Amino acid sequence: MTTPSRTHSWQKLTAHRQQLFSSGTTIADLFTGDAARFRRFSVNTGEILLDYSKNLITDETTRLLLALADEAGLQDAITAMFRADVINTTEQRPALHVALRTLLPEARLNVGEEVQATLDKMEGFVEEVQKGRWKGYTGKPISTVINIGIGGSDLGPAMVTAALVNWHVPQLHCHFVSNVDPVHMRETLATADPQTTLFIIASKSFNTLETHQNAALARRWYLDNGGDVALIARHFVAVTANVRKAQAFGIDAANIFPMWDWVGGRYSLWSAIGLPIALAVGMPKFRELLHGARLVDEHFRDTPFERNIPVIMGLLAVWHSGFCGASSQAILPYSQSLNLFPAFLQQLEMESLGKSVEIDGSPVRTATGPIVWGSAGTNGQHSFHQLLHQGTHLIPADFIGIVRSVYGQDHDQHTHLLANCFSQSQALMQGKSEEEACRELLAQGRDETFARALAKHKVIPGNKPSNTLLLRELSAQNLGSLIAIYEHKVYVESVIWNINAFDQWGVELGKQLGEKLYEALTATTASERFDASTNGLINHCRKRD
Ligand code: F6P
Repeated sequence: MTTPSRTHSWQKLTAHRQQLFSSGTTIADLFTGDAARFRRFSVNTGEILLDYSKNLITDETTRLLLALADEAGLQDAITAMFRADVINTTEQRPALHVALRTLLPEARLNVGEEVQATLDKMEGFVEEVQKGRWKGYTGKPISTVINIGIGGSDLGPAMVTAALVNWHVPQLHCHFVSNVDPVHMRETLATADPQTTLFIIASKSFNTLETHQNAALARRWYLDNGGDVALIARHFVAVTANVRKAQAFGIDAANIFPMWDWVGGRYSLWSAIGLPIALAVGMPKFRELLHGARLVDEHFRDTPFERNIPVIMGLLAVWHSGFCGASSQAILPYSQSLNLFPAFLQQLEMESLGKSVEIDGSPVRTATGPIVWGSAGTNGQHSFHQLLHQGTHLIPADFIGIVRSVYGQDHDQHTHLLANCFSQSQALMQGKSEEEACRELLAQGRDETFARALAKHKVIPGNKPSNTLLLRELSAQNLGSLIAIYEHKVYVESVIWNINAFDQWGVELGKQLGEKLYEALTATTASERFDASTNGLINHCRKRD
């Protein structure tokens, strides 16, 4: 455990960065006369290729970053994770999501049997529901599944379910309700039939306000619309580590799927939290997803760092934030199916890496996790890419492309998608000089004074770094691999920054204050207990009726 800025490698990287930047070398320059750059700065695992050649890095940069990884004890940290050491120190537990998909004979915690038993239980349940043997209170089979959860109990399953739409079974429609705004639940219920609807209450803690409110609303809706109270167990199941609370809510013990404290919420889609995924696409596909993640677990654990995708991506993120001044990171999947991937990564990255103290509680001395944002290409090109190209911020981008089209058809249109993906990373790197812009305008027959003036606005500085991840196809296996790559990349960053990637104390204060604010909003007297702004807002709402 080392404060990164105190390591030799950090000092050397600082000097190296100074030299590299002051030389005026651009990313595009690095390609000139170096035909082997793509080969040297790209790496494969399974059906995934990472091209990281479009970053402002040289062989020396990677050498120094790898030395930083060694100095930070990354290899030991990886071993510690797979061995089930207590790496989530503030919550005093391991972070063992890898055990949900990979056998860990070396682990100090033997969870293999419970993981297997849970998968078997899921399998039995999925089969019952998919084959129509799991009947609602009037004897009709289930046709609508509504997952009620938030954060890790929503984003991962929702993202994967949306991404694998090509494999959805036709007889089930899966929905996800997360927001405590009742509109979310009401709109979802508007098309549902209580006789054929199954609710999954997904909450590791079974203590989360939003989930609790939505679950109660769902139960009211079920009962108010003819649902039989005696057969409520046919319509409500839970995934939780808090069996007592789930039972108190009225869930039959037999219909509670386990979660464990050694799995963080944002790392939990591989557990029974993935039940809606399994219902949507079937257990064989869910197991394929796990297999894809397992391949990356093995790659991460066993591959030398210089060929290790999560390690390389993590080190690049450290380079960008610690040495290049980047405070945000764009995630640009060129795939409509991965539309929810940036939102999923926001929780994974920002809840894990949005930390200001090191493991021992001392303040960090370097920037930690960046702001993560993005959306599916090509849509972003017509909204925010302008800022990527000509704005004042340096924003590294991860492009994610899928080589084969999802439905195995529309190849030409899919080729346009890929062409746009590659042209954007190329444009970000190359940019356009004032001379080029001016030449273009003159060639279009523009008057010279006008051309010179307009050219200044058309300059694109370029030299913007990006990675491109290419998946051969968007299979469940490759999706599992992709997610696991990012999970491990986040861990790498946390090890280098010496922060805990597995707690999230920052979200607690808002929850505590939320309870007090609710009391004030429902009180019979005007609020005077808070600051003037908060009192003013509360009292404004109290007058609404
Ligand atoms: O936002 C905080 C958080 O604890 C997340 O880490 C978690 O994924 C989410 O709330 C939901 O928690 P639970 O599954 O316990 O309802």
